[in-house]
Amino acid sequence: MNNFPSVLESTADLSDKHIQGLLELASKFQKRESSGPSFPKIPVVSTFFLENSTRTKNSFAVAAMRLGAHYIDFNPENSSLNKGERLEETFRTLHCQGVELLIVRASESQLLSEFKKSTPIRLINGGDGTHQHPTQALLDLMTLQNELGNISGKKIAIIGDCRHSRVANSLIELLPRLGMKITLCGPKHFLPTSNIPNIEMTTELEDTFDCDALYLLRIQKERHINDIDYDYSLYPDEYGISLKKIEPLKKKIPIYHPGPANIGMEIGEDVIHSPFYRGYHQVKNSVPMRMAIIQAILQNGDKSIGQACRLDQVL
Ligand code: CP
Repeated sequence: MNNFPSVLESTADLSDKHIQGLLELASKFQKRESSGPSFPKIPVVSTFFLENSTRTKNSFAVAAMRLGAHYIDFNPENSSLNKGERLEETFRTLHCQGVELLIVRASESQLLSEFKKSTPIRLINGGDGTHQHPTQALLDLMTLQNELGNISGKKIAIIGDCRHSRVANSLIELLPRLGMKITLCGPKHFLPTSNIPNIEMTTELEDTFDCDALYLLRIQKERHINDIDYDYSLYPDEYGISLKKIEPLKKKIPIYHPGPANIGMEIGEDVIHSPFYRGYHQVKNSVPMRMAIIQAILQNGDKSIGQACRLDQVL
């Protein structure tokens, strides 16, 4: 198009020829987009994070790119959600733009529950409040199996702020299905308020020392609602895991942490640099596991998604 402006500020900057030329070119792109197999579409995957993250967000980005997808780091914090647009409408809009899958993180529990029956876009929970972090639990399962082989009958102690941990909730749901036994350990303020079938609970760290694996959790102060009558400064001495603390263990066992770790609080610097620590194995395994999850969800053949965006719909 001759003399197309270098700064397009107003429709008045365009000549009538420009307008006609744009309509024709856009029409060609429109036909190409809907012409099917001769123009195979590269899937577009986007993160949608309303809460901070290092591990989950970046490993999903790397996983998407390793699969050959295009990746968008959508920032809901500065999106039109802040102008009052509903979440569902935002999801539908992104799907109409060509985004196939969103990985959503939120501080609100069960944010995605309303979309399980009918959704405008494929969604993966990247951690929601105190509720669930399913992809973390799946990559942890992979890491545990790499180390322990068959986990049926093996014991894992989850130590720390179990009450406010979405990771703990996902592990409690997942690991017993493969026969693993779980003991939750921590000050009473950080243990679930009611019993969970087949899950042991203890406030005594020594009770966990017959386990096959330790899984440490951060104290999640950001999820405490001013009702924790516990002196946090006691935690490193009482429950923090250092090499000295685990000396009485009968065998050498792997130590896991989903991250982010508060070194000096729930885990000693010496443990992080010891052969017991598996935190970086978890991070490494996050990419192949999240590649598997992305591929599976993109290939699920759900025809109900994106009806509103179809250009061939007849009124
Ligand atoms: N494990 C985990 O969810 O870490 P991030 O908060 O860094 O994503």
